[in-house]
Amino acid sequence: MKAAVVSRFDEPPSYHDVPVPVPQKSSEMVVDVVATALHPRVRSQADGSHYTSTGVLPLVPGIDAVVRDFRGVLYYALLDDTAMGTMAQRTVVAKDRVVALPNTADPVAVAAALNPAMSSWVALRHRINFERGSRVLILGATGSAGRMAIQVAKRFGADQVIAVGRSPQRLSALTALGADRVLTFDQLDTAGDVDVVIDYVWGPPTAKGMVDLLSHRRDRGKDVIWIEIGSMAGPGAEILSAALRSTRLQIVGSGIGSVSGDTFREEIPSIAEAVTAGAFDVRTRTAPLSDVTAVWTQSLGEDERVVFLP
Ligand SMILES: NC(=O)c1ccc[n+]([C@@H]2O[C@H](COP(=O)([O-])OP(=O)(O)OC[C@H]3O[C@@H](n4cnc5c(N)ncnc54)[C@H](OP(=O)(O)O)[C@@H]3O)[C@@H](O)[C@H]2O)c1
Repeated sequence: MKAAVVSRFDEPPSYHDVPVPVPQKSSEMVVDVVATALHPRVRSQADGSHYTSTGVLPLVPGIDAVVRDFRGVLYYALLDDTAMGTMAQRTVVAKDRVVALPNTADPVAVAAALNPAMSSWVALRHRINFERGSRVLILGATGSAGRMAIQVAKRFGADQVIAVGRSPQRLSALTALGADRVLTFDQLDTAGDVDVVIDYVWGPPTAKGMVDLLSHRRDRGKDVIWIEIGSMAGPGAEILSAALRSTRLQIVGSGIGSVSGDTFREEIPSIAEAVTAGAFDVRTRTAPLSDVTAVWTQSLGEDERVVFLP
């Protein structure tokens, strides 16, 4: 069968013949991959930079997919860390770690939307005690996960959502998704008192933005919870001690480890149902897996989420 194969961390995957995977346990099954998306998390798996990387090569990238079993039943599969990922014609999944999808599910939309939607959905439901009526600020709101976070926060009852990004042009499209205000990073001092920050950016923009946001807080006795979810601008951010002393700032993270695999999987049916019902605006572009090497590089920075059809 064919698969995308990473042989070196400094090169994009190439399209190769690989052996059909064989289940190692009775609790596993081989499935056909129907649609699998190129999330930033997959890029960091394939370049070895993700914090879960074991350094093992070669590997087939891909952390999730819509798959089909031998009876024709569709599932969403979220894989544990493995060198046999989803960017292949077939892969191996644990039977208790797949979630059956309704017949009406659109495989491309589900493959594209689950990972970015899940990030804020799980964070707001499991990492904090999110209250209806909260004011939410999203850093990196122009990306796939940020765009979903606007819609998820509104769905969960946010009173106001402030979308923050670096491109005024990209930000201008976000009010249609439910953002009440859009700001560039250098306008964070005007954001006012927010209750929750959802951060996909980290790095220097967060370090500066945190100071700008917190030092202009009117009510410093009110809690503000900063949820770290992504690190598009860098893995580290300098946090000033004064930020933690002078406001009621709490910083938490949300991702694999701080949220259990079981918790992620428990939420999948509800998110898949919302995606299938058309609750989210999902931008996708499909490509054959045979084009993986070219598409990997060309699609960097694109608005649409690439979904490979093996
Ligand atoms: N922990 C979890 O559960 C989880 C789940 C899903 C995703 N994530 C993480 O969340 C992050 C975003 O994912 P995504 O799917 O939204 O990616 P994406 O679609 O590629 O969007 C990336 C976002 O980051 C912004 N950005 C990139 N580099 C930046 C920089 N140097 N300074 C400021 N902003 C920058 C982009 O702004 P422009 O629009 O201006 O380019 C865009 O808003 C990734 O780190 C991903 O791994 C985590």
